[in-house]
Amino acid sequence: MTAQNKTLLSARGLNRSFGAVVAAADISIDISPGERLCLIGSNGAGKTTFVNMITGYLKPTSGQIFLDGEDITPLAPRDITRRGVARSFQIPQLCLHLTVLDNMLASLHCSQASRSFFNSSHDPVAVDASRKLLDSFGLLMHAARPVLELPGGVRKLLDIAMALTGQPKLLMLDEPTSGVSADEKFATMDTVINAIDRGASGHPVTVVFVEHDMDIVARYASRVIAFYSGRVIADGSSASVLADPEVQRYVTGSVKSTAEAFA
Ligand SMILES: Nc1ncnc2c1ncn2[C@@H]1O[C@H](COP(=O)(O)OP(=O)(O)OP(=O)(O)O)[C@@H](O)[C@H]1O
Ligand SMILES: [Mg+2]
Repeated sequence: MTAQNKTLLSARGLNRSFGAVVAAADISIDISPGERLCLIGSNGAGKTTFVNMITGYLKPTSGQIFLDGEDITPLAPRDITRRGVARSFQIPQLCLHLTVLDNMLASLHCSQASRSFFNSSHDPVAVDASRKLLDSFGLLMHAARPVLELPGGVRKLLDIAMALTGQPKLLMLDEPTSGVSADEKFATMDTVINAIDRGASGHPVTVVFVEHDMDIVARYASRVIAFYSGRVIADGSSASVLADPEVQRYVTGSVKSTAEAFA
C-alpha cells in the first residue's frame, strides 16, 4: 500500500439512535487522503450525525473512529480538532458583534491554545496569518466589518476559513452552500476549493462536504456517499451514485424525506 492510498480516516460500524429514530446504522466508511467526498441524503438521513460523530460532538453508541490509525472515538471535539479534523457548521458559528478579523483571530487562538486572545489580537504574526487566510477566501475587504453586517454567503466563507486556522488534514463542511443564494453557490464552492487547492492553510486538506444541490455534487465531488434513514445506500463516483435507482428514489427523486417515505 502506498502513502497515497493509505486510509486517513476510518469509521467502523458506527451506530447512533435518538429514541426510535435511527440516525446511524452500522456506518463503515474509509476516507483516503486527497478525496473530495460528498455526503448526500434527504432531510434527516443522518449526514450531520455522521459529521458530528467524526468530530466528537456526538458519541456513537457503538463503533469506532480511527484517524491515521489512532482510535479517536472517545476524544473531546477540541482534542480531535488538534489531531487534524476541522469542521464548519450547517449554521455558521460566529461572533456576530466582532469583526471578521477578530473572528479569525479568535479561531486562531483556539487552535493554538497556548496564546491568550489578547496576545493574538496584538500579535503581528497572528494578524498577518489571519489576513492571509481572509485574502485567500476573498474576504480581506470585509476584515474590519462586524459579522452581523454581512450576507449569508460571506458568513459561510468566513466559517470555513476559520476552520482552516488549525491546519487540518481533514475538513468537514456541513452544507457549505446552504443559505447562499442559488446564483452564488458555484462561486462559493469555487472560492472554497480554490483556496484549499492553493494551500491556504499551508497543508494538503482532504475535504468531506454535505450538499443537497446535485449540480454542485456533480461538479466538485471525487466520490459520493448517499445516506438514507441512517444507512449508507450508495458509495462511488458521482456519476454512478447519482444514477443509482435507490438514490434516485430516496434522495434525488420523488421521495423527499425519510419521514415522507414512511408516512
Ligand atoms: N440531538 C438530537 N436529538 C434528537 N434527534 C436528533 C438529534 N440529532 C439528530 N437527530 C435526528 O436524527 C436524524 C438524523 O439527523 P441529521 O441531522 O443527521 O440529518 P441530516 O441528514 O443532517 O438532515 P438535514 O439535511 O436536514 O440537515 C433526524 O431524524 C434527526 O431529527
Ligand atoms: Mg444536516
